[in-house]
Amino acid sequence: MLETDPQGSRAVGLDLGTSRIVSAQCQDTDILFGTQLNAFTTIPFSKLTEGVLKKERIPYVVQDSLITVYGDESERFANLFHTETRRPMRRGILNPDELANTAIVREIVTLLTGEKKGRGQKLCFSVPAAPVGASEQVVSHQHQMTRMLGDLGYEVRSIPEGLAVVYGEMESSNYTGIGISCGGGLCNVCFAYLSVPVLSFSIPKAGDFIDAQSALVTGDLATRLRVQKELGFRLNGMNGSRVNNALTVYYDQVIENLVKSLKESISSAPRLPKLTQAIPLVLAGGTVIPEGFFERFRDALQANELPVKLSEVRVSAEPLNAIARGLLMAALC
Ligand SMILES: Nc1ncnc2c1ncn2[C@@H]1O[C@H](COP(=O)(O)OP(=O)(O)OP(=O)(O)O)[C@@H](O)[C@H]1O
Ligand SMILES: [Mg+2]
Repeated sequence: MLETDPQGSRAVGLDLGTSRIVSAQCQDTDILFGTQLNAFTTIPFSKLTEGVLKKERIPYVVQDSLITVYGDESERFANLFHTETRRPMRRGILNPDELANTAIVREIVTLLTGEKKGRGQKLCFSVPAAPVGASEQVVSHQHQMTRMLGDLGYEVRSIPEGLAVVYGEMESSNYTGIGISCGGGLCNVCFAYLSVPVLSFSIPKAGDFIDAQSALVTGDLATRLRVQKELGFRLNGMNGSRVNNALTVYYDQVIENLVKSLKESISSAPRLPKLTQAIPLVLAGGTVIPEGFFERFRDALQANELPVKLSEVRVSAEPLNAIARGLLMAALC
């Protein structure tokens, strides 16, 4: 067990994801999770609309002549007006096309923690591993989020997302193994040895790619495809429905791409520790949820044998919370 801070209630794990932000905090002997869509939508300002939002307790901010509704409620408003929600983050980092990106993330974090201002609590947040050729953007994202969370009153540390999976899931192997988070914008991978990350990378093909590509094929909005996917899509071959077939094709691409990158990256890594024992591989993140994902991933692994022995391959019991739990554990240390 990682040695933990006895004042555990003062720590926060914060999974800053492209599609959702998840918080984890201690409550007595339990972990309390909170989650909100990392999204927003704007509607024209009127005193009447503002009054309605207040009454309904819908989170919003007013700027210029616009009301910005953020978090889970943004989806309802986007549906009402037949538009897509907008995203403060894209592919794991702040979205450069959205000027208010940091401000919206700050509002959503405040909504989740329930505190306008932190009280010096230790907070660990997730950062993606750099995709090949884009490390500068990740560093800038990391700095901006560190500053914003510091200004909010927390003692802040960033942790690679794949490593957070290792912290949250691999106590029994003494934090040695491969942690993978398949999210909206990215798949993040971390190979850790005794809690130390020895290889981390990310791949920019994950849930959003599946939604966007499938939407192009079916002529729908990507948001609609995402909702269909989350409402019980199963990865069990082509079953005749246009939407299901499209989702299946692009899910297969994401899995193939992930396993091939895993094999190539481990094979070409210059300084991996020489392991005598087999290690676990654990998958987390929303994209691993559909029934049949695990079997497809396992088949792809069989076809592309990794240069390390695996003791087990499994999906986290709580794929959407696993990263925030690992971050909380890191914050407690
Ligand atoms: N019940 C579900 N069934 C299928 N897919 C789901 C389900 N819930 C969420 N997803 C998908 O998982 C993805 C989001 O996963 P997650 O919340 O782990 O990502 P994120 O952390 O926000 O993004 P990233 O890590 O890439 O920055 C989205 O593509 C979403 O549609
Ligand atoms: Mg994530």
